Amino acid sequence: MQDGYGRIINYLRVSVTDKCNLRCVYCMPPEGVERTPHDQILSFEETLRICAAAAGLGINKIKITGGEPLVRRGLASFIHSLKHQRNIKTVTLTTNGLTLSDFLKELLDAGLDAVNISLDTLNNTCFRRITRSNDLQKVIHSIEDACKTQLTIKINCVPMRGVNENDIVPLAELARQTEIIVRFIELMPIGLGSDFSPIPQDEIFEQLQSAFGVLTPSDEQFGNGPAAYYSAAGFIGKIGFISALSHNFCGMCNRLRLTGTGLLKPCLSSDAGIDLKAIIRDGGGDAEIADAIRAAVMAKPARHNFRSDNNQHKKKNMFRIGG
Ligand code: GTP
Ligand code: 5AD
Ligand code: SF4
Repeated sequence: MQDGYGRIINYLRVSVTDKCNLRCVYCMPPEGVERTPHDQILSFEETLRICAAAAGLGINKIKITGGEPLVRRGLASFIHSLKHQRNIKTVTLTTNGLTLSDFLKELLDAGLDAVNISLDTLNNTCFRRITRSNDLQKVIHSIEDACKTQLTIKINCVPMRGVNENDIVPLAELARQTEIIVRFIELMPIGLGSDFSPIPQDEIFEQLQSAFGVLTPSDEQFGNGPAAYYSAAGFIGKIGFISALSHNFCGMCNRLRLTGTGLLKPCLSSDAGIDLKAIIRDGGGDAEIADAIRAAVMAKPARHNFRSDNNQHKKKNMFRIGG
């Protein structure tokens, strides 16, 4: 599918739950959030139907997100079904890694292609401060276990001023020593994210160059998302940057998002969304679903409006949209 700005849309991010087993300070309040009633969440059958319609229109890459997708029961078998849908080439997962070890084997058997693990620090105290959990070692074990498989592994770190500034170099060190790709994501002012200060890419870049020498742009792509990748001398892995504010990538946008409650969103930053759940539960046919998907593609804005409309974004929740 081509959108109104000539961009080819072939990537669908599917949030399968808004629940999470962590409470990251920039994402969820300490007390958690009101539960979405189970019947308001799309069943896997409904989601598969939407994905099949999207695949018929040119979507060939699917990202599973949350909340924390691994808290949803039956995820591996859902991934297996997705992998067997016509036209779907890759199915990848973004997780906080807390329980990834427990599910690795079934995810691999299901045909999962790659995994992104969110990890903002390697320091126990800092991990507790950010995630309000003591389970850093579980995440580290998951990363170690995942490294023993053929999965491509990326670590997502969101650097925040005065919070995990000192973790940038130690995390990048993982990319020097292993095949892991370490990515630094500029904090976006969504929900509680607006209470913290991002560290701009250029500053991280300088810090890394001081520690590791020159970073050179890599021609390779390591996924379907917006990251820009770099190599450094002596590195086995790569460094990546996702900088929605300081190095805007909307011109290359290739994606749509489906929330757990069945809203199809043209852009991470917009309030707009087409209610596919209502279409399906009102008895809509596949043609109607396809029309709604085409409409969402045509509704994609040229770029996000994070800079202009800050208060609106405060009301949004990353754990519902799936990042
Ligand atoms: P791969 O490239 O396949 O690894 O996927 P990805 O980078 O798209 O996936 P991931 O779920 O790891 O997302 C990493 C970060 O990129 C998250 O913070 C997302 O919110 C952000 N991101 C992904 N797509 C967009 C987008 O369209 N706009 C903005 N602003 N941020 C995005
Ligand atoms: N800005 C940037 N990235 C964010 N994430 C969660 N909230 C934000 C935000 N406000 C990241 C998580 C995870 C990915 C899916 O999105 O850390 O790695
Ligand atoms: Fe959970 Fe991810 Fe939000 Fe952290 S950022 S609370 S891991 S959904």
